[in-house]
Amino acid sequence: MPSLNFYGLQQCQACLLHQSATQKVDGRGPLPADIYILGEGPGNDEDKTGQPFVGKSGQFLQAAIEAAGLTTTTGLPLGTRGAVRIGNVVRCRPPRNRKPLPAEALRCQMWLNIELDLAQPKVILCLGQTAIEAFLPGRKLEKGKKVADYVGQRLPNEQQTIIGCYHPAARQAAQRNQVPKVLLEVARLIGVEPPVKPEVDYRLLQF
Ligand code: URA
Repeated sequence: MPSLNFYGLQQCQACLLHQSATQKVDGRGPLPADIYILGEGPGNDEDKTGQPFVGKSGQFLQAAIEAAGLTTTTGLPLGTRGAVRIGNVVRCRPPRNRKPLPAEALRCQMWLNIELDLAQPKVILCLGQTAIEAFLPGRKLEKGKKVADYVGQRLPNEQQTIIGCYHPAARQAAQRNQVPKVLLEVARLIGVEPPVKPEVDYRLLQF
């Protein structure tokens, strides 16, 4: 399966984050994929396993994906489109889980470009400010806007359908709980109806 590791991700030294990271974290899920979900950057669990979104917020995200009738299942015959691919703005864990610096995000953009080229998604879902900003002019929220203004909304982009959302590790539960709701809308955008009773166990995410 082609992936960023195949293209040399593990050898990347484009910024200094590689000095403190255990390993680079590739994307997860099928290629190509109908939906690409973009997070901020690896945390401790991701740094250890080399897989994105496998910690607590990852489990919550996975439950939301499945509740929307979607899957991250791989192993499909080569070239078959899967449902969901997941990746991050930066591929190395920032020290102490700090937010990636704008220069780090910019230097890592080439990996996102390669992955999006492989994924050819119909919809991109951005989780949190860092992911949203990766697609905005000047890589900044528009003047006077907050993340809330982008939740469930299309970002200004003529080429691609890009939707904003809170991050599943957002501080407030009311914000985290928007993730399954927006995912349902995204699933509907690509013609997937959720199973009869979409349910996410919100207790999965107790910080
Ligand atoms: N895990 C990830 O892989 N990305 C995030 O943004 C948060 C947790």
